[in-house]
Amino acid sequence: KEIFLKDYKKPDYLFDTVDLEFQLGDEKTMVTSKIAVSPGNEGTSSPLALHGCDLKLLSIKINGTELKSDKYTVDPRHLTILTPPAGVFNMEIVTEIYPQLNTSLEGLYRSTGNFCTQCEAEGFRKITYFQDRPDVMAKYTCRIEGDKTLYPVLLSNGNLIEQGDLEGGKHYALWEDPFKKPCYLFALVAGQLECREDSFVTCSGRKVTLRIWTPAQDLPKTSHAMYSLKEAMKWDEEVFGLEYDLDLFNIVVVPDFNMGAMENKSLNVFQSRLVLASPEAATDGDYAAILGVIGHEYFHNWTGNRVTCRDWFQLTLKEGLTVFRDQEFSSDLGCRTVKRIADVSKLRSYQFPQDAGPMAHPIRPLSYIKMDNFYTVTVYEKGAEVVRMYKTMFGASGFRKGMDLYFQRHDGQAVTCEDFYAAMCDANNAHLPNFLQWYSQAGTPTVKVTSSYDEGSQAFSLKLSQEVPPTPGQPMKEPMFIPVAVGLVDSTGKDMPLTSIYSDGRVQTLSNDGHPIFTTVLQFKKKEEEFIFNNVPERPVPSLLRGYSAPIRLDSDLTESDLYFLLANDSDEFNRWEAGQILARKLMFSLVADFQQQKTLALNTKFVDGLRAILRSTSLDKEFIAKAITLPGQGEIMDMMSIADPDAVHAVRTFIKKELAFQLKDDLLAAVTSNRSSEAYAFNHDSVARRALKNTCLAYLASLNEPDVTELALNEYKSATNMTEQFAALAALSQNPGQVREDALLDFYNKWQQDYLVVSKWFALQATSDIPGNVANVQKLLAHPAFDMRNPNKVYSLIGGFCGSPVSFHAKDGSGYKFLGEVVLQLDKINPQVASRMVSAFSRWRRYDETRQALAKAQLEMIISANGLSENVYEIALKSLAA
Ligand code: ARG
Ligand code: ZN
Repeated sequence: KEIFLKDYKKPDYLFDTVDLEFQLGDEKTMVTSKIAVSPGNEGTSSPLALHGCDLKLLSIKINGTELKSDKYTVDPRHLTILTPPAGVFNMEIVTEIYPQLNTSLEGLYRSTGNFCTQCEAEGFRKITYFQDRPDVMAKYTCRIEGDKTLYPVLLSNGNLIEQGDLEGGKHYALWEDPFKKPCYLFALVAGQLECREDSFVTCSGRKVTLRIWTPAQDLPKTSHAMYSLKEAMKWDEEVFGLEYDLDLFNIVVVPDFNMGAMENKSLNVFQSRLVLASPEAATDGDYAAILGVIGHEYFHNWTGNRVTCRDWFQLTLKEGLTVFRDQEFSSDLGCRTVKRIADVSKLRSYQFPQDAGPMAHPIRPLSYIKMDNFYTVTVYEKGAEVVRMYKTMFGASGFRKGMDLYFQRHDGQAVTCEDFYAAMCDANNAHLPNFLQWYSQAGTPTVKVTSSYDEGSQAFSLKLSQEVPPTPGQPMKEPMFIPVAVGLVDSTGKDMPLTSIYSDGRVQTLSNDGHPIFTTVLQFKKKEEEFIFNNVPERPVPSLLRGYSAPIRLDSDLTESDLYFLLANDSDEFNRWEAGQILARKLMFSLVADFQQQKTLALNTKFVDGLRAILRSTSLDKEFIAKAITLPGQGEIMDMMSIADPDAVHAVRTFIKKELAFQLKDDLLAAVTSNRSSEAYAFNHDSVARRALKNTCLAYLASLNEPDVTELALNEYKSATNMTEQFAALAALSQNPGQVREDALLDFYNKWQQDYLVVSKWFALQATSDIPGNVANVQKLLAHPAFDMRNPNKVYSLIGGFCGSPVSFHAKDGSGYKFLGEVVLQLDKINPQVASRMVSAFSRWRRYDETRQALAKAQLEMIISANGLSENVYEIALKSLAA
């Protein structure tokens, strides 16, 4: 059943307090829910419909009296009380559930023996009958009863107010959350866990106890997560004035978890990968992800929990904003440019394709069948870009004013994206015409820029035009408000001071209290607009869309030599990287055409020289260098083609890599040697940057597949004292098929088979490999004893990893498609959310040639006609076939 944003209605009934009681058992768990209900609108007499799924109803009482069976109806998804009393009343519902059988990892389930919950988006209905929607906010208590030896730790939201022993080896704990919350923020955890404890004193002097819960053997691996949490708490106070609001903050680690983590009030739940780390077993990438996600979930306490969403269509209100906040947090703790590059790359490789395919949706979707399918890169990452545009326009202090007003107006409420927009605009006395279109129009806008310079009048003109492509259900688009940050670079490579711009029939003087301005933000809001810079003494090279000021595709008339000039000179480091990427994309695109016409491939020397200069730079940040010498991903190039050709793109990218390695070999070798270090592992920007550069260079070298570089990689592998370098060396060695590869992979497995997170990396490395015939390899790994279809982490590593390797997944014989088709059906029986993420790999099947189209379509048709298919997979398959 499809649900529409336009059909939103306020709830007829409000829940004021909810008192839950769980009797945990191995066979069955009993849940008693006592709710104080009050009418939402005056004089409601409509039936009270409660959501429920996989529940066994034991009893319902209204005001203490058992409800007769003709006073309510039950169907597989609802319990409806036909004529609830007028005014305030109490309702008590007892249900039975079977967490040990719950493999969907939604609602209450077991993971390695422990109990744990995941309620967002609509999992609470698998725990008890409830109005499972975010605008129903109540105060909760939760009493948990269970066996004391099996479940020594009993946790829920808020404060522990009572605990004690019971007969029969049982005990109980009573928790009370003083803050009103929607049910998706409810959490319960019970099991054999130990904690690392620390504390944080907030700006107003509140001492908060911090606990990270894991199985005992993993406790040593929680120190980086604890560090991250304390940094996040400090950062939110410093940057946004937001203080934690309870005396206790818990984080629980579970191995089986559908998403990354969950921001349940004061009881965040994380999948292991995003908490546990040690230098030996986790990479710099893992450390960075932990910092970001611990920050993300913590920041939700204000953006998500204190102020929540009116309905699920508003998801980006909390997710876009919270992703933006975690990006800023990581930037402030690391290197801003490098973080920006990473975030923009992610947007380009994952969100752009979604925006151009059958699943394209606005950051606020207009309808859904299954909400879980809309926890997407569009809602999250593009949503974060939309939030970033407010900051670009209003500046850091204007953005802060907007945030302050947002909390002042909406603390304790469930609100909409318009409410956020209004707070931002009102706090800055601004009106942003066409800005709200970002919330309702899907598709990545393309902005064309043409420039001209008039020497006589010393005027430099930029003509901008925009085009938002049609997307499913949205054939026509309106112009959007697009902030375009621009600087003008003079012939010596310096930014020109900008004095005034003419646009919209008026001249705007640019100055910052008498100080010159070097970057200005053009407010581009019509289909076409011209901006004329005055007093420009010579023809400049424009540096456009600095810092990537809007989530668009930019199509400018900059020449190759302009781009090489910007690559070498732009004061905006992001745009230096960008210039290199545009050059690389152009190069790859033209080589793809050569390859398709069976011409010999050759690399232009200017490109090699440009990269050599970057590689040799002693002034640039090392991690920046690593990013700048990394070629755009295969997906980005396929995106530019009218018919995506994975074989050609793969061949070209491999060719360029090898050719660069060949021509830059000495510089690459020097970079590897000079970036070794015997210091103990530390996660700080300098060390991370050093390792990033060394590992990127090693990967280039290994592509040569020559004995000396193989020897070098083997040495790096053997001498590595941390996972970042060990894994990079393993990845380098496994680029080329052969005995060296097999031996290294086996050695690594034998070393790490005890550590399931490292084994997941090992799966992912093989799954993403582009060696010939990899489908069969992955098929074999599916039967590996360490693989487990019920663990999402392993599925994402092996199956997800495989789908991310275009040459193997899109193998011309259809073997990749067939493999995925079978896996999806198998997975769907176990875990529909995970199956639906996997089936998404098929969604862009129309981008390929006819042979591939037919093969992929056949799999989608096979899937959609399967018996008992989940709504999750159905929605994706249906939309993929329809568009
Ligand atoms: N709110 C969580 C986060 O982004 C994501 C949970 C989504 N879960 C789901 N089953 N869709 O931090
Ligand atoms: Zn989130």
